[in-house]
Amino acid sequence: MRKPFICGNWKMNADRAGAVALAKATAQTAGQVGGVEVGVCPPACYLETVLAAAKGTPLVVGGQNMHTEAGGAFTGEVAGPMLKDLGCAYVILGHSERRHIFGETDEFISKKVQAAFKFGLKPILCVGEKIEQRQARETEAVVRRHVTTGLAGISNQQARQVVIAYEPVWAIGTGLTATPQQAQEVHAFIRQLLATLYDAALAQEVRIQYGGSVKPDNNFDLMSQPDIDGALVGGASLKADGFAQIITEGARAKGL
Ligand code: PGA
Repeated sequence: MRKPFICGNWKMNADRAGAVALAKATAQTAGQVGGVEVGVCPPACYLETVLAAAKGTPLVVGGQNMHTEAGGAFTGEVAGPMLKDLGCAYVILGHSERRHIFGETDEFISKKVQAAFKFGLKPILCVGEKIEQRQARETEAVVRRHVTTGLAGISNQQARQVVIAYEPVWAIGTGLTATPQQAQEVHAFIRQLLATLYDAALAQEVRIQYGGSVKPDNNFDLMSQPDIDGALVGGASLKADGFAQIITEGARAKGL
């Protein structure tokens, strides 16, 4: 019912030639593995190149971030209409690196989610706790706050289009993956929360990705969980073969 969605987040990596090669290889995988939506989010400067490589293939492309405003005096920023104009379908918002390295607040991220819809982009809203918050048993409170504020002002119709990525901060780039059970617990919590914020039918429609050290050898177990609908993959999405394996393992987990 929910189409699995596996998306690479290249972060600040790749050069032009590497971006083309990786996009082409990933587009080929996307064409071969039916039933799974496959995406990549390259650095903004390579979006156009990657979109050209993805043209005519099922590979979808997203930005890694955007500003709240449509344009103006915001040196160094990228606006939603620019992403849309290039042909992006998605935009990652609220990634933990944006929250914790660049100081983005829940309120700022909330404005970005609203702006994404205004400019015709689907947000991939990232949520997740830090290790000290998990140890203090604050995981649910943190995730509730990220989801609730992230979706503030978002209508029922819009919320159906949102992708939520549960990314425990302690698992990102550390090689420490959440166990499938740990991830499933939080995914189920998020789905329940969506039912409370909206309704049960909507909660069943929204795709919730797991992110944080997803690898070829752990994605089957992760995506075998009933509430894990896909993956947001950083480091392991930079190698075409490994990312292809992550995608085929995800499809296999969902019986596709
Ligand atoms: P990682 O990053 O797969 O390298 O842990 C995931 C992410 O930050 O989206």
